Amino acid sequence: MTLDALAHLLAARARVRLATLPTPLDDAARLRDALGGRTRCPRILVKRDDLTGLGLGGNKARKLEFLMGAALAERATTVITTGAVQSNHARMTAAAASRCGLGCDLVLTTTAPSPPLEGNLLLDHLFGARVHLVPAVDPMLAVGHDEAIVAGIADAHRVQGGRPYVIPVGGSSATGALGYVAGTLELAGQLDALGVVPRRVYYASGSRGTQAGLTLGAHLVDAPYELYGVAVSGGEPEKIERARRAAADAADLLGDGSSVSGARFFTDQGFIGDGYGLPTAACVEALRLVARTEALVLDLTYTAKAMAALVAHVGSGELTPDDTVVFLHTGGAPATLTTPAAAALAAGAGWQKL
Ligand SMILES: Cc1ncc(COP(=O)(O)O)c(C=O)c1O
Repeated sequence: MTLDALAHLLAARARVRLATLPTPLDDAARLRDALGGRTRCPRILVKRDDLTGLGLGGNKARKLEFLMGAALAERATTVITTGAVQSNHARMTAAAASRCGLGCDLVLTTTAPSPPLEGNLLLDHLFGARVHLVPAVDPMLAVGHDEAIVAGIADAHRVQGGRPYVIPVGGSSATGALGYVAGTLELAGQLDALGVVPRRVYYASGSRGTQAGLTLGAHLVDAPYELYGVAVSGGEPEKIERARRAAADAADLLGDGSSVSGARFFTDQGFIGDGYGLPTAACVEALRLVARTEALVLDLTYTAKAMAALVAHVGSGELTPDDTVVFLHTGGAPATLTTPAAAALAAGAGWQKL
């Protein structure tokens, strides 16, 4: 379908404007130079979704525009969501609740009994969320047994006459996925204006709402690029199913009637390392490289792993100098401003002191 037709379908969905859009699509010329220049490295465009603005920015702002739209349409009084203790999604949900005048409960998994009040966790408190810490059970998958806790919190709100709206982990429901259908529309318009046809769009893939939206969006507008999701945690078969389901349900929400059965749902499992949130040497290096060449701040859990894939593919010759690639910068900088991230970066850089 045309971009206008998709814009028309999206316009019928409840949405709260929370993000500063469009985000820039910038040439990363110095990064290209550092990776071998025009004779070795593709043109790299960075889609700056770290600059969506809401509560220090990131990809979740796009999802939250539709999720908070749905919450307000249901006359919710509070939102409840879950994530790891340094979850960007949780921080941005707290920010969105603050902007919309709703309460916010965050159920956050942690391996430390009392994690330091820094990065996203500090911002969660600052934005006025009620934080409930629970022990993490599987560091590879980044999950805890939080469903019963969420249900208990929701019940407690109902008893007091409140109307809770539960947002799934990562905001990765069909409604949330609409954010990156809209994001695809924005990107496609920018690429058209530049006259550029990228070969790939690299992005970090966690709970899969971004994948669901990007894949559905690309399928609907017949985008010419390959979506290159870089997985940041395990559990692939179930997660691909989750993405497929969210995309199919999002297509239903749009009333488009088209099937996603022809769409390719793909992520590369090769850059996870030892598990969710555990930095690899390559991602530490990638984070430092883009900071020094482009002043971009990545994070060690998501975006630096995606950038490590892009860098590896330049090195191996899988990407050629004639290609153009887009790196979707999904945010995450607050998690870099934490003690564990600083320690990993300092060790990687051989710094004497922090
Ligand atoms: C910075 C960042 N990048 C990428 C992702 C992955 O997005 P998704 O959970 O939709 O796969 C997240 C999710 O929390 C994130 O915080």
